[in-house]
Amino acid sequence: MLFSEIIKKKRDGEKLSKEEIEFFVKGVTDGSIPDYQTTAFLMAVYFRGMDIEETGELTLAMAHSGDMADLSGIMGIKVDKHSTGGVGDKTTLVIAPIVASCGVKVAKMSGRGLGHTGGTVDKLESIPGYRTSLDTETFFKIVNEVGVSVIGQSGNFAPADKKLYALRDVTATIESLPLIVSSIMSKKLASGSDCILLDVKTGSGSFMKTVADSEKLAREMIDVGTHAGKKVMALITNMDVPLGHNIGNSLEVAEAVRTLQNRGPEDLTEICIKLAANMLYLAGLGDEAECIRLAKAKMENGEAFKVFCNMVEAHGGDRSTVEDVDKLPIARFNYEVKSDACGYISHMDSEKCGISALLLGAGRATKESKIDYGAGIVMNKKTGDYVNVGDTLAVMYASDEGLFKEAEKEYLSAIRLSEAAPKVIPIILERIE
Ligand code: URA
Repeated sequence: MLFSEIIKKKRDGEKLSKEEIEFFVKGVTDGSIPDYQTTAFLMAVYFRGMDIEETGELTLAMAHSGDMADLSGIMGIKVDKHSTGGVGDKTTLVIAPIVASCGVKVAKMSGRGLGHTGGTVDKLESIPGYRTSLDTETFFKIVNEVGVSVIGQSGNFAPADKKLYALRDVTATIESLPLIVSSIMSKKLASGSDCILLDVKTGSGSFMKTVADSEKLAREMIDVGTHAGKKVMALITNMDVPLGHNIGNSLEVAEAVRTLQNRGPEDLTEICIKLAANMLYLAGLGDEAECIRLAKAKMENGEAFKVFCNMVEAHGGDRSTVEDVDKLPIARFNYEVKSDACGYISHMDSEKCGISALLLGAGRATKESKIDYGAGIVMNKKTGDYVNVGDTLAVMYASDEGLFKEAEKEYLSAIRLSEAAPKVIPIILERIE
């Protein structure tokens, strides 16, 4: 097969065969297709798209380009969740223990963050001692005994995606539906769980800006996952405002703990209950209403928080720092961001809030950057709140006072004030089975 002929076929809008797609993925994985041909092909896909059959074949080929996790050493049904990424998204830290406390196993491999804020793995590593890198035997043992383990992605899962994502990132080909679907679902299929709940974020802090685009993405991911033999469903959730009040790694752990103790912010609590309930639904524990009751009960009676503490301890983390979150690391300096006008906050650009946290040290500007676990932002006021001149909008934390000025400028540019109260947008926008 000549790869230039495959590029030409896609350039001209033709449908590719399973063999042609497998040839492409194999060539990317073993390096026999050079980057210039790969990127030409990616651009052809960007403009011409792929139908659902081609997307499914691409996903399967990418999933099988490396290791496929075998979770059969873990007893019972295993449920996974994937979020398409958002600012202040600490939901995994809350929902994984809730689900585990209901007897459903969560064996989760999570990523590090690149860009605005840290990923789940970075957040967990802000807990002193927590190890995110474990051998398979220890990982399985913790899941079997505690019910949940969240570790960093290791091993050789979907190596084709690693190469393709790196090339897409620098060739303006990220925003392509078949490429996003195959990238996300190949990793999910390779990580071995029986059921997958997709949290597809919509709005200023996510790469899907409209509900219609998010719905399209969700439906294709469900289709591809279901054809691969998994139980898959999706919630479309609002990311037009950061989740909860805290952005930054240890700050987010502290907020997740308060939520598990049933004293978290309303928006975060609601989304966590709904996500956890739908994971339980996928595992067959009842209809959505029954699963919501179950999830709430585990939060209220303290069992979910106990599972979280047990997981932290099993990973070598200092349990006392999550039992008393004042012991978590916090950056040395703080700074209050004040409002110089009055009105309702009618819009917050989540992405800009995330960039502001990144400027304080809470995220990575490049793969090599080191995260300051104690840096970040506590947002006192959010969309819908009324502010007066001089009110504190947020408190920023950093290890270097010199970082506040630029971060404040970015944060203030994220906030729009208006005379009238804005329309309230629900946190859960749609549920798709
Ligand atoms: N997240 C992924 O893992 N891949 C994409 O293509 C987009 C978001």
